[in-house]
Amino acid sequence: MSQSLSGRRVLLIIGGGIAAYKALDLIRRLRERGAAVRPILTKAAQEFVTPLAAAALAGQRAHTDLFDRADEAEIGHIRLARDADAVVVAPATADLMARMAGGHAPDLASTVLLATTLPILIAPAMNVRMWQHPATQRNLATLTGDGVSVVGPNDGAMAEAEHGPGRMAEPGEIADALETMLTARSERGGLGFLAGRAVKGSLAGKTVLVTSGPTHEPIDPVRYLANRSSGRQGHAIAAAAAAAGARVTLVSGPVSIPDPAGVAVIRVETAREMLAAVEAALPADIAVFAAAVGDWRPAEARGGKIKKDGSAVPPLTLVENPDILATIAGRTEGRPPLVVGFAAETDDVLDNARKKLAKKRCDLLVANDVSHEGGVMGGVENTVHLLGRDGALDTWPRLGKDEVGKRLVARFAELLSKAPPA
Ligand code: CTP
Repeated sequence: MSQSLSGRRVLLIIGGGIAAYKALDLIRRLRERGAAVRPILTKAAQEFVTPLAAAALAGQRAHTDLFDRADEAEIGHIRLARDADAVVVAPATADLMARMAGGHAPDLASTVLLATTLPILIAPAMNVRMWQHPATQRNLATLTGDGVSVVGPNDGAMAEAEHGPGRMAEPGEIADALETMLTARSERGGLGFLAGRAVKGSLAGKTVLVTSGPTHEPIDPVRYLANRSSGRQGHAIAAAAAAAGARVTLVSGPVSIPDPAGVAVIRVETAREMLAAVEAALPADIAVFAAAVGDWRPAEARGGKIKKDGSAVPPLTLVENPDILATIAGRTEGRPPLVVGFAAETDDVLDNARKKLAKKRCDLLVANDVSHEGGVMGGVENTVHLLGRDGALDTWPRLGKDEVGKRLVARFAELLSKAPPA
């Protein structure tokens, strides 16, 4: 096991929810990676796990009470809020997120969160309906706007026999996200002040919108039309933009990869939902359309499952989906100053890409060959060609999608600095 968090001091706030048991495993994972972990348990967390168990795994005492005299004399809550390199909140319940977003401080955990200037990573965990409630989504937007990083929640079966986003990210994913957050902050000059608000970086102060992943177009409640996009390239761009100091919104179709740290993620299924989410997320300085949007959808999504009745195969009539990139790039008002499109091609890559750039009116087009042999669609590497409006062409070697994301972000920053203001 690599000591990738060696010497890091993590203040782990454990919220009250069934996922609290996974926080114990998180303590173990963080320590395996070399971090020192100081746990704080909310009152509700203690209904699920004991301070003794957390302390035993952490190898140091667990804190619980704001008004514990012995505690305050030994290490006050202000020192707790300072004596670490990062704060991780896992599980972050809907209530804890609301307290953080509202600046309320009725107990030790929320007082420390209000008093700290350290980078904060939250791992939300709650019932799917609570997660999707507009109040929670509002709180999430406030927190990411304040510079809080978020990991998860994941899709999956939950304690109440329901399915959907709400499951806490796995301990390994949380530890990975913590590493990403700490690396991103040291890359932009180690500025963690005010939980990331005072940031440096080539895109500091800029807003970036990225679409990513496939869309699912329903045929009936159990079947849909989709494509092989994994979302890796779009997610890598979002992660790189956040690491470069931008405030990033990622509108993602259904994917099975983790959310990038420090990015506000809006999950959608269909092309029409993606367009609505993009409209809601604008304005932005840069809009990157990396999603593999379904060009067509079934004319009618049936309310009940289509049954085999032994006779004819059911017909599938398709209608065209809105073109999200062309809609936004064609605007005269509210058009982002830098609009970046992608072109997924299997034949005549450059020729088709040039036509797409003109037709969709983007400022930069990233073309890639997605024929089956290349393994780009769904894979971890990409060979891209960059086409500018002025006809300039750049071809990069085959690179990991993360590296492509970083290089693209550097190019965006350069182009934006030359673009006329919106
Ligand atoms: N795009 C979009 N909305 C759509 C279709 C595509 O926003 N309904 C965007 C993609 O995100 C990408 C660009 O348009 O940035 C090109 O996508 P691509 O699938 O390569 O091209 P299409 O327009 O679908 O054309 P074709 O399938 O004929 O190649």
